[in-house]
Amino acid sequence: MAGLLSKFHSAFIIFFFLFVVAFSTKPQPPSEIPRPAFGFGKEKMTHLRFYFHDIVSGPNPTAVLVAAASSTNKSRTGFGGVSIIDDPLTEGPDPKSKLLGRAQGLYASASQEEVGLLMALNFVFVDGKYNQSIVSILGRNSGVSKVREMPVVGGSGIFRFARGYAKARTHTFNVTSGNAVVEYSVYVMHY
Ligand SMILES: *[C@@H]1O[C@H](CO)[C@@H](O)[C@H](O)[C@H]1NC(C)=O
Ligand SMILES: *[C@@H]1O[C@H](CO)[C@@H](O)[C@H](O)[C@H]1NC(C)=O
Ligand SMILES: *[C@@H]1O[C@H](CO)[C@@H](O)[C@H](O)[C@H]1NC(C)=O
Repeated sequence: MAGLLSKFHSAFIIFFFLFVVAFSTKPQPPSEIPRPAFGFGKEKMTHLRFYFHDIVSGPNPTAVLVAAASSTNKSRTGFGGVSIIDDPLTEGPDPKSKLLGRAQGLYASASQEEVGLLMALNFVFVDGKYNQSIVSILGRNSGVSKVREMPVVGGSGIFRFARGYAKARTHTFNVTSGNAVVEYSVYVMHY
């Protein structure tokens, strides 16, 4: 009798869970999903323009090689080299111009035929209304193109739900030091 009851109980419990699970996993129409507590306006486009200072040599480099393969220094493209960066972003090409933020992240040589970098960066802004807001970039930076386009894959703060693209154009490259100043023009859709 006890066995029968517990069989009945387990059958009931299984039925109950199937029933409840079937109902609780029913997809909600989008209008019923509660919106996050922060305000949503209309989606807007912001254009950001700044200069990125990649300093690889001298007493205070902002880009450091952290990993490489044994073959990296034999590769024409530095294939396998990974650098971590914390590059200043300024208003003008002069490194002493107003600091707008920093590009923090990494680039890695991921192409064997021609220079092609995987870029995984957070543009962390420190100025004005963008202070502490972030735009995240993940893309390919081709060494052979005059203008390189990389996707904006997200953001935080003002740039929540960000999508868009960045265009990078080398402003100056010093072949002796390896240091570069790159102009970035970033188009971001956000709320
Ligand atoms: C490449 O790096 C290895 C160590 O990682 C070193 O032993 C070798 O001398 C380097 N080769 C060149 C050409 O710099
Ligand atoms: C940016 O925010 C930080 C942290 O809240 C604050 O310390 C700093 O003064 C702010 N900078 C500007 C330029 O508003
Ligand atoms: C390029 O870098 C070298 C080595 O750091 C430096 O002596 C030279 O002044 C730099 N050239 C320019 C145009 O900045």
